Amino acid sequence: MASLIQRVAGQARQTFRMSSLDPTFKENLKVLSTLMENVKTSDLNLKPRNTGQTEPYNKSSSVSAPVTYMHIWEDEHFTMGIFLLKHGCRIPLHDHPGMFGILKVLYGKIRLKCFDRIEEGTMDPPEDVRLLGSKHKLTPGRFSTEQLLDGDTGTGGVLQLGQSKNNYHDIVAVDGPAAFLDILAPPYDPSGGRDCTYYREMDIYQSQGQAADSAKDNVQWLAAIPQPRDFWCDYEVYPGPEVEL
Ligand SMILES: [Fe+2]
Repeated sequence: MASLIQRVAGQARQTFRMSSLDPTFKENLKVLSTLMENVKTSDLNLKPRNTGQTEPYNKSSSVSAPVTYMHIWEDEHFTMGIFLLKHGCRIPLHDHPGMFGILKVLYGKIRLKCFDRIEEGTMDPPEDVRLLGSKHKLTPGRFSTEQLLDGDTGTGGVLQLGQSKNNYHDIVAVDGPAAFLDILAPPYDPSGGRDCTYYREMDIYQSQGQAADSAKDNVQWLAAIPQPRDFWCDYEVYPGPEVEL
């Protein structure tokens, strides 16, 4: 029987080689998400790192990267890999233009804050946002969710992102190191208009349409920034079963 990660990859190819407008796309995405929910560290020969690490990663004194990436697969349809985050480390707020994704926490706890993409040109930043963010490209994002995914209980957690839903997110390892399996489709392609941009929240919310019930129903203005200096990845070889498609 094929390994679970091989089945995940096969389902990912089946899902993402079709158009997202195909009537069976959502059903295939659901099958993929359910398969990913079942992936455990043992399916990937992955040993949880430094789980006794009680002190958060020290950005100023550490020379090792806050985040490690293990590449598993990439073709024109999707990319798959594992991100390992040291305690307290963050993948800063970023986006996935025109992409879908599924993230499954393998161990540790990950806090996600997500915003939905809002169609370009439908909102103008208010005066105070324009003044504060005059040096940056400003993008509105609608607050979607802030949640804790716990990889140490049950099936852990899975987050789906779509071309608009949860497309901007930041990811933090809390209470210790954490890791997640990540599928993105199609892969980033800067020459094809799918480059990753990092953002800073302007902390100025704005209502869209009728008055919102709370600040979190509102739109947050996001300022595009260069990749933060305290975030970078190093790379390790993926130790799990080979994937062949
Ligand atoms: Fe992401």
